[in-house]
Amino acid sequence: MSTNQLEMKKKLVFLSGAGMSQESGLKTFREMGGLWESYDINEVATPEAWQRNPELVLRFYNERRKQLMQAKPNAGHLAIADLEKNFDVEVITQNVDNLHERAGSSKVLHLHGELMKARSTVDSFLVYELDHWALNPGDLCEKGSQLRPHIVWFGEAVPEIPNAIGIVEKADILVVIGTSLAVYPAAGLVNYVKKGTPVFVIDPNRPSVLQENVVYMKEKAGKGMEILQKELEKMM
Ligand code: OAD
Repeated sequence: MSTNQLEMKKKLVFLSGAGMSQESGLKTFREMGGLWESYDINEVATPEAWQRNPELVLRFYNERRKQLMQAKPNAGHLAIADLEKNFDVEVITQNVDNLHERAGSSKVLHLHGELMKARSTVDSFLVYELDHWALNPGDLCEKGSQLRPHIVWFGEAVPEIPNAIGIVEKADILVVIGTSLAVYPAAGLVNYVKKGTPVFVIDPNRPSVLQENVVYMKEKAGKGMEILQKELEKMM
């Protein structure tokens, strides 16, 4: 593939959320039976929770990591990776799992961090890959401070948002998949598309903040991507 061929490919951008990985067996957050029904955000996903009870926070993310290590990418993840044959695909995900990467997607931007990484509590640039599920009290960075999950907690800045905006602004086609669009600034990204850019939305429940002029597909990620892939390939 030459650079020219890459330049000619349309830029296809995905914005994914927890529903993307639901068919891989990972729970979403805000639906019935979702994670935020069983856990209080303020006790496991804020900087204050980490100060108050780091053991509980570590346990919560250890459980997520353990489940992730047993999960596999689903048909939806695989279809998105497959579209790289014909499009310049970029994935912006709110998910902290690595299922897009494991499906073969090569450009994945994680807005809310990554479960399979840990970082230093004194130097946020010291980030470490994890190859096991347990991050424990006493696990230290090279400067001797406790490691924390590499997750963007509620109340923390979202450092990747300017990069995500830059990607959405260049999109020729945007696909929003498996997100309730309830959390900002991620949810605001859809407003950065160029005028006239086709926007597709795949979700069994229509996100309430969406504008009228999107193509809404009331499907789960796997089936929705099977249908959409055929449509997208007509738009190459
Ligand atoms: P939500 O739980 O808010 O929304 C999940 C969306 O997925 C809903 O719109 C569901 O209808 C949809 N859904 C469920 N099953 C699906 C399937 N099989 N295929 C496609 N869609 C399906 O999750 P997010 O929008 O991702 O942040 O939540 C955003 C952020 O809030 C998360 O990144 C997380 C959470 O708190 C942090 O923890 C920082």
